[in-house]
This record gives sequence, C-alpha cells and structure tokens, in this order.
Amino acid sequence: GAPSTELIEAQIRDIPDFPHAGILFKDITPLLNHREAFAAAVDGLCAPYRGLGVDHVVGLEARGFIFGAPVAMELGAGFVPARKAGKLPARTIDQSYDLEYGTATVEIHADAIVPGSRVLIVDDVLATGGTGRAAVDLVRKAGGTVVGFSVLMELSALHGREKLPDVELHALLSA
Ligand code: PRP
Ligand code: MG
Repeated sequence: GAPSTELIEAQIRDIPDFPHAGILFKDITPLLNHREAFAAAVDGLCAPYRGLGVDHVVGLEARGFIFGAPVAMELGAGFVPARKAGKLPARTIDQSYDLEYGTATVEIHADAIVPGSRVLIVDDVLATGGTGRAAVDLVRKAGGTVVGFSVLMELSALHGREKLPDVELHALLSA
C-alpha cells in the first residue's frame, strides 16, 4: 500500500486472546501515541470526504470519538458524539442493535443534527457491522443524510460491509 498506510498499519498491535480466548484484538493505542501515524490516519479518514460539504461528523463511543473529533476539525464540521445508552443528558434519539448476546443501544441528542444536513460517521473498526448499521439508521432517523462511514480498519472476515450496502463505506486498512 501507500507509504502512509504502511506507517499506520505498523502502529496497530495485535493482542491475542483479548478480551476472550480466540479473539485477536487490534490495539490502536500505539497508533494514537505516534504523532505521524495518528496524523496520517486522521488524514486518511478525511480524504474521500474533502470538499463534499460535511456538516456533522458523528463519532461512535468510545474509540470513534478519538478519530471523529480531529476529522470534524479537519473537515470544518461539527462533532456529534453517538453514545451508549444513558450517557447523554438532554433529549435523545436512539437506535438498538443486536449483539452476539442481547442488544445494545446508541443515542445522539435529538437536536444535534440539523435535518437535511450532511453527516459523516467515523469509527475505528468495522467488525460485524452492527454498530455501524445502528449509527447509519440513527442519523437517518434524525433527518441527516449519511455522506459516508469512514473507518480505520475493516475486519473483512466478519462481513460487516454486507450490513451496509446502502452506505459509502471507506476503510483505510483491511485485515
Ligand atoms: C468496537 C469498535 C467498533 C465496534 C465494531 O467497539 O470500536 O465500534 O466494536 O464492532 P461491530 O462492527 O461488530 O459492531 P466497542 O463497543 O467494543 O468498544 P469501544 O467503546 O472501545 O469503542
Ligand atoms: Mg467502538
């Protein structure tokens, strides 16, 4: 890949058997702590969406906050946190999604997205696609137009992309 992609990839650490036996965890903390690689990652997440008039960037708690906020700054957009249930203080719009066991809910403030505005969703990893699917549905429920879903890494073996056929999905890295 491009030199910057290699720089980014080199700073993602594989942790076997975390959080459970058999899971190979992608640890992004070395990337966050590497000035050039972090800047390259933020730049890469923004690249396809420059000049497209993004009004809001929605970052998905928790790791999507870390990338979403600098992406918003760089694109000249506002930042909207999509949080796990019960964390936001004002009136919210929510969307539930299935987990391996049970369900989870993501929320944004009801007044965060101006209806008709253009929204980019940002997260670190696309795995099964459940989180991303819920975020897209949530933004649309709020009246936003989803311009894209930008992730650092797609775990292609989990086929998350198949849950998002109606979204312009951009993954900087694929594993
Ligand atoms: C992780 C990751 C993505 C999500 C991807 O978040 O950061 O948000 O899983 O999985 P999916 O495509 O199967 O939905 P997680 O909720 O584990 O924790 P975080 O709060 O550390 O981001
Ligand atoms: Mg997450």
